[in-house]
Amino acid sequence: MFKPRVMRNVKVIDLTHRMFGKLVNLPIYITATALGKLGHPEGEVVLTKAAGTKNIIQMMPTLASCSVAEMMDNALPGQEQWFQLYVNQDRVAVKKLLEKVESRGVRVLFVTVDAPSLGKREKDMRVKFVDDAPDESKHTELNRTQGAARAISTFIDPSLCWDDVSWFKANTKMKIVLKGIQCGEDAVLAAQHGCDGIVVSNHGGRQLDTCRSGIEVLPECIAALKEAGLRDKLQVFMDGGVRRGGDIFKALALGADAVGLGRPFLYGMASYGQQGVEKVIDILAEELTMTMRMCGVTNIKDIGPEYVLANNLNSHIGVAPKGYGFSNAYERMETIDSKL
Ligand SMILES: Cc1cc2nc3c(=O)[nH]c(=O)nc-3n(C[C@H](O)[C@H](O)[C@H](O)COP(=O)(O)O)c2cc1C
Repeated sequence: MFKPRVMRNVKVIDLTHRMFGKLVNLPIYITATALGKLGHPEGEVVLTKAAGTKNIIQMMPTLASCSVAEMMDNALPGQEQWFQLYVNQDRVAVKKLLEKVESRGVRVLFVTVDAPSLGKREKDMRVKFVDDAPDESKHTELNRTQGAARAISTFIDPSLCWDDVSWFKANTKMKIVLKGIQCGEDAVLAAQHGCDGIVVSNHGGRQLDTCRSGIEVLPECIAALKEAGLRDKLQVFMDGGVRRGGDIFKALALGADAVGLGRPFLYGMASYGQQGVEKVIDILAEELTMTMRMCGVTNIKDIGPEYVLANNLNSHIGVAPKGYGFSNAYERMETIDSKL
């Protein structure tokens, strides 16, 4: 819950923020979501264009429907784009990909670490997906019975481990951020291994059922990093379920440097293309401005733990808000009446 402060001059609100040195208009970024053309015929370049006009950062997915070149060619001059990496078992292929991305000027690499195998996504398994697979997964034999996500991700290396961080550091100058940290111990290990950042995330709830959400894990990570004296060693991002400006505020208050959003931008893109994504960004900016004003804060850097009460964040007491998608948008599995 919020703990607003009043009687402060909140006439001018500044939402600008720096992420790895880049000045952006909002403390949010578009996180990596694979297969953008499922939502819009132009795919991820729609997100690129909206991120450009609104000056926020887009994280380009390894499994994008568009090529890295297409996404980067559609960026405005000076527009910052990050790259999300699913680590291929073939390290020569990884090295080539890193070189390609780095040579185009990408400065930050997000290595997804919560997907040694893809979760069991039953709705995905029921959809009969016929499109071409993205480049990265083309050379592997596709098993089409397990859903699109599993079919295109068999190249991912399940042997990825902490020792590999030094391989990345030796093979790229990009900053290294681990995406998918889910406890304080791993946050500390990431800092100890010299990573530049972490994303506290459960992959949008798409990997292992009954994992905690990002916002629930975040305070544990911040506390563990502080206790180890390592909080200033890395950037801490969080994603998952951020739907309103107030959610952004709460994550920053609990210690995140910025937050990622996935599905809200996909919904905007699928419904209204670039304008839809821009509208989502505008709505979030308006809501964040309003929340900051009503909490008595004028700058992003001043959003701190004193503005929220999070004591029972992990207790799950009370009624959890119902997700519209879960209860309404998806078709339920029908039981089949036996004719016997
Ligand atoms: C359709 C979809 C595709 C995704 N694809 C990827 C991916 O390719 N790589 C990755 O690291 N995370 C992927 N994610 C996870 C997101 O980066 C992010 O962790 C999550 O979606 C954040 O939650 P939100 O969608 O509730 O904002 C995907 C999520 C969705 C919804």
